[in-house]
Amino acid sequence: MTRTLTLSPHSPDPNLIRQASEIILRRGLVAFPTETVYGLGANALDEEAIAKIFIAKGRPSNDPLIVHVASVEDISRVASEIPPIVKKLADVFWPGPLTLILPKQAHVPDSVTSGLNTVAVRVPSHPIALALIRASGVPIAAPSANRFGHTSPTTAAHVMDDLNGRIDLILDGGSTTVGVESTVLDVTCTPPMILRPGGVSREAIEAVIGAVDLRKKRTESDDEAQVSPGLLGKHYTPRAELILCSGEKKSALEKLSALARQAQAEGRSVGLLLADEDMKSFESISCIPYPLGSSSDLETIARNLYAGMRTLDDKNVNIILARDFGEQGLGLAIHDRLMRAASQII
Ligand code: TXA
Ligand code: MG
Repeated sequence: MTRTLTLSPHSPDPNLIRQASEIILRRGLVAFPTETVYGLGANALDEEAIAKIFIAKGRPSNDPLIVHVASVEDISRVASEIPPIVKKLADVFWPGPLTLILPKQAHVPDSVTSGLNTVAVRVPSHPIALALIRASGVPIAAPSANRFGHTSPTTAAHVMDDLNGRIDLILDGGSTTVGVESTVLDVTCTPPMILRPGGVSREAIEAVIGAVDLRKKRTESDDEAQVSPGLLGKHYTPRAELILCSGEKKSALEKLSALARQAQAEGRSVGLLLADEDMKSFESISCIPYPLGSSSDLETIARNLYAGMRTLDDKNVNIILARDFGEQGLGLAIHDRLMRAASQII
C-alpha cells in the first residue's frame, strides 16, 4: 500500500519530513513535489534502492536518473569535476529547474547513470524537496513519478493514479508550479548543449553563459539517442490520440476545427488542449475543452499542460487537439513535450 502525507508546500512539517527520510534511508521509494513535476525519490548512492525505481516505473535501465542535492556545494558528492561555468549557472538558476550533466564520481552507481561516465544533477527549489534531501542526508535520485512513457505528474493524485501500491509514500504538497521538467544542460562539452528543453529557457541560459547548442530531435533509430535516452521519440503520452498542429495560429485553428467536425461526425469524442482564447473557434462543435490559459502567458500554459492531458484522458476523449505556442522562452519546452505526446503532427 502507498501512504500519502499532506504537507504545506511552504513550510513542511519536520516530523512528516523525518518519516519520509527514514523511508529513503531504509531503501524505500518516496514521491515528492519539486517545482517542476513530482519526482520518485530513492537514495542515489544505494544500488538496491535505485533498482526499485526502475521496477516501480517500468523504466528501461538505459534511461539515466537525475540526482537531486540540497546545495551547490553538495554536487561534489556525485560529480568529480566542476567546471567554472557551473558556478555561474548555479548563482543564477539554483535552486531551480536546471539540471547539469557533469563527470561522475566513481561511487555513484552505474544504475543511476546507465553506465555513462557522467551524472545529471540539480538543486530543486521546492521547500519539500529540499527538506527531504536535507533530512535524508544523502543525494536523492528521482525521475518523474509516472509509469514509464506516461504523462509526468504535477499533483499527488497523478502519482497515485500511476504508482499506487508500487511505492512506499507520497508527499502531497499540492500542484507543482513550473509544470514541465527541468532543462537538461550538458556542460561537459563546448559550447554546452541543451539535451532537453525545460523550465529554464534557452534565452535565460544564453544571457548568462553565451551561446549554447540545442540537441536536435532524435528518433529511436538514431545512434546518439543513447546519450540521453529520455529524448527518445514518443514519451509523455496521454492515452488518447493527440494531434498537434504547428504553424501560424489562424490556419492552425482552422485545421483543428475541421478535424473536430470530422471526428464529431464519426462519433469520436474530442478534447481541446488549447489556449483560453482559442476555444472560440470550436463553439459550434461539441468538444471537451481544457483551457490552458492565455497564449500570452506561457508560464501558465506550461503549468497546466500535463494536468490537461490527464484530465482529458479521465474524460475518455478519443482524440486531443493541440497547437503549439512557438519556440521562444518556455514555448520551446511546451513544443517539445507536445511533439513527444503527439500521435500525429500536422
Ligand atoms: O524536472 C525534472 O527534471 C524532474 C524532477 C523530478 O526533478 N525529473 C525528471 O527526471 O524529469 P526524468 O528521469 O524523467 O528525466 C531525466 C532526463 C532524461 O531525459 C535522461 O535521459 C536525462 O535526464 N539524463 C539523466 N542522466 C543523464 C546523463 N548522465 N547524461 C545525459 N542525460 C541524462
Ligand atoms: Mg520523465
